[in-house]
Amino acid sequence: MAKGSQNADEMSEKTLQTTDLTGSCINTAPMTVVLANVKGGCGKSTIATSLAAALATTGAKVALADADPQRSSLTWLLRRPIAAAPIHALDWTQPANIGKIPQELRPLDWVIIDAPGSTRGARIEQLCTVADLILTPMTPSFFDTHATQRFLMHLENVEPVREGRASMHIIANRIRNQSALDDALSLFLERFDLEPAAEFAERSAYPNLAEQGLSIFDRESQSLAPLKAQWHPLLELMQRRMSAATA
Ligand SMILES: Nc1ncnc2c1ncn2[C@@H]1O[C@H](COP(=O)(O)OP(=O)(O)OP(=O)(O)O)[C@@H](O)[C@H]1O
Ligand SMILES: [Mg+2]
Repeated sequence: MAKGSQNADEMSEKTLQTTDLTGSCINTAPMTVVLANVKGGCGKSTIATSLAAALATTGAKVALADADPQRSSLTWLLRRPIAAAPIHALDWTQPANIGKIPQELRPLDWVIIDAPGSTRGARIEQLCTVADLILTPMTPSFFDTHATQRFLMHLENVEPVREGRASMHIIANRIRNQSALDDALSLFLERFDLEPAAEFAERSAYPNLAEQGLSIFDRESQSLAPLKAQWHPLLELMQRRMSAATA
């Protein structure tokens, strides 16, 4: 995959053997997904950890890179039971480490990046440079839509996005009424002609399982099936992107 920066070069300096979600072998750099929004508390860490677990439980080799000095994802990984599907930790909390993958972790299929809430300026540009997909979670609150609007406008001018090397998608998170997205969020999406890549309900399963270093994808329970189904559009989008990159 063509990536233009020094950090991207660090990630793709070797041809890596990876597997797609269905397990067939392909040769490429890892597909890299960043959860980013300048707005704090919109679900970046919850979605990053859940996504890493969703991919890891399919047998893919996944790293979770924490670029947030709060270290939420790294703390989650420390709590993760040994018996759970393995997810490798990358400490990218120091800007100088962004993009670095130790040789012993290669090859990797996916790198999921948990970005800090204060992502702006050089940091978001640096993270976007190593990302194939930028996922921006937002909740149906006026404060989220306002902050996200400014963030998206900034993102549009970041070089990898402007040049089409990284694509950006909204994730509607903490939706309380599934049949109709809450007003502030619907108005925002309509105004900017945006379609969310996925919509996740507000459920206590997310924080409850996160406390144990787990996610909904680490549990077989039938009661979680409707929640997992809400992730299919996002996982399919990621699979399409992986297939396109390796075609
Ligand atoms: N879909 C959801 N249902 C219920 N609770 C959720 C959901 N998504 C996130 N939360 C809760 O919302 C809070 C904020 O989520 P999270 O920490 O993932 O956000 P963040 O964007 O990473 O925040 P920060 O900017 O501080 O890093 C947490 O308590 C989390 O458990
Ligand atoms: Mg976080």
